[in-house]
Amino acid sequence: MISAHGYAAHAADKPLTPFAFERREPGPRDVQMSVLYCGICHSDLHQVRGDWEPMIPSLYPMVPGHEIVGRVTKVGARVAKFKIGDTVGVGCMVNSCRTCPACRNGLEQYCESGATMTYNGRERDSGDPTFGGYSDVLVTNEDFVVRIPDNLDLKAVAPLLCAGITTYSPLRHWKAGPGVRVGIIGLGGLGHMGIKFARAFGAEVTLLTTSPSKVHDAERLGAHATLVTRDAAVFTKNAGKFDLLFNTIPTGHDVNPYLQLLAQDGVMILVGALTALTPPPLGANLLFNRRSLVGSIIGGIRETQEMLDFCGAHTIMCDVEVIPLQNVNAAFERLAKGDVHYRFVIDMESLRRESARAA
Ligand SMILES: NC(=O)c1ccc[n+]([C@@H]2O[C@H](COP(=O)([O-])OP(=O)(O)OC[C@H]3O[C@@H](n4cnc5c(N)ncnc54)[C@H](OP(=O)(O)O)[C@@H]3O)[C@@H](O)[C@H]2O)c1
Ligand SMILES: [Zn+2]
Ligand SMILES: [Zn+2]
Repeated sequence: MISAHGYAAHAADKPLTPFAFERREPGPRDVQMSVLYCGICHSDLHQVRGDWEPMIPSLYPMVPGHEIVGRVTKVGARVAKFKIGDTVGVGCMVNSCRTCPACRNGLEQYCESGATMTYNGRERDSGDPTFGGYSDVLVTNEDFVVRIPDNLDLKAVAPLLCAGITTYSPLRHWKAGPGVRVGIIGLGGLGHMGIKFARAFGAEVTLLTTSPSKVHDAERLGAHATLVTRDAAVFTKNAGKFDLLFNTIPTGHDVNPYLQLLAQDGVMILVGALTALTPPPLGANLLFNRRSLVGSIIGGIRETQEMLDFCGAHTIMCDVEVIPLQNVNAAFERLAKGDVHYRFVIDMESLRRESARAA
């Protein structure tokens, strides 16, 4: 076994603390990597705090982290795609059944038997808990490892592995592009990448935010316009003005005012709210104007590589605030308040420095 060090949550209401654990020795198709950077996704906060119980149980101890960039330190005998020294990424999934129609279509996130998640999941063979990227070392099957373009800043790449693909995939699927009026709801980790991708795809992009303080940044990130949604009149004034809404609000909420912003055949994509939408969507807000309310999770491995290559070609990266792992609890508090600009990324050197000092 390999000894690993990271930070773990031990209960929903307790801070994360240093945690030593073991990972498997790399098997023939495994890649072992030294973790360089790991982004902090709002899903980490939800799962640490048990927000998705009982639908998605929180398994403790939990080492979160699924926006991982690492450097390969060892490869199994049958690994074909990677070699020692390569810069690689791991996102939200580390395995899937590989045989169901979804897996065969490169949509492992919709695997019929459930994809194996990078943390807060269980390995398919052993049933052992999976531990994520708030740690120094990772061992992952090469089919779930992606290549990082060499022209990008690695700390600003890490959040592409979740926030990037979660926005890229549905914006592609629902055809954000020239002539399409796209509204991005919420300017956090997902929202800021939503603006960048929708803009790169040629769409007309508006940010819908609850924070007047973020208006200036939205334009810098590529939005053509911004609407501050604290004022209810904004919804009536802009009724029917959007073709596509990308909704990143992290909790159940009233989607009705947003649905009314959609034009005929407009689509609102939910990616944030897993829990009840209250009050529920009103039928009339869907029937009239033939609107759709849809959802999406992350993206498959093939599309994740496509997204990274697109980012390499267009020099697209995340706006990040780099922190040492020791500050993770303070970052969680700020994330809970929406005080994020626009993704926290952990520099894993901080852990190595601490270990070196202790030795
Ligand atoms: N579907 C997937 O595959 C997937 C993948 C990753 C994450 N997620 C989920 O997506 C959600 C967003 O993740 P994130 O990492 O982008 O979070 P984040 O960085 O915290 O950003 C969320 C933003 O939503 C806005 N917001 C927060 N609470 C709100 C409320 N009650 N009403 C209206 N707006 C609110 C805030 O933006 P403003 O200040 O601009 O209003 C906030 O910055 C989380 O629930 C996360 O678990 C889903
Ligand atoms: Zn995530
Ligand atoms: Zn499958």
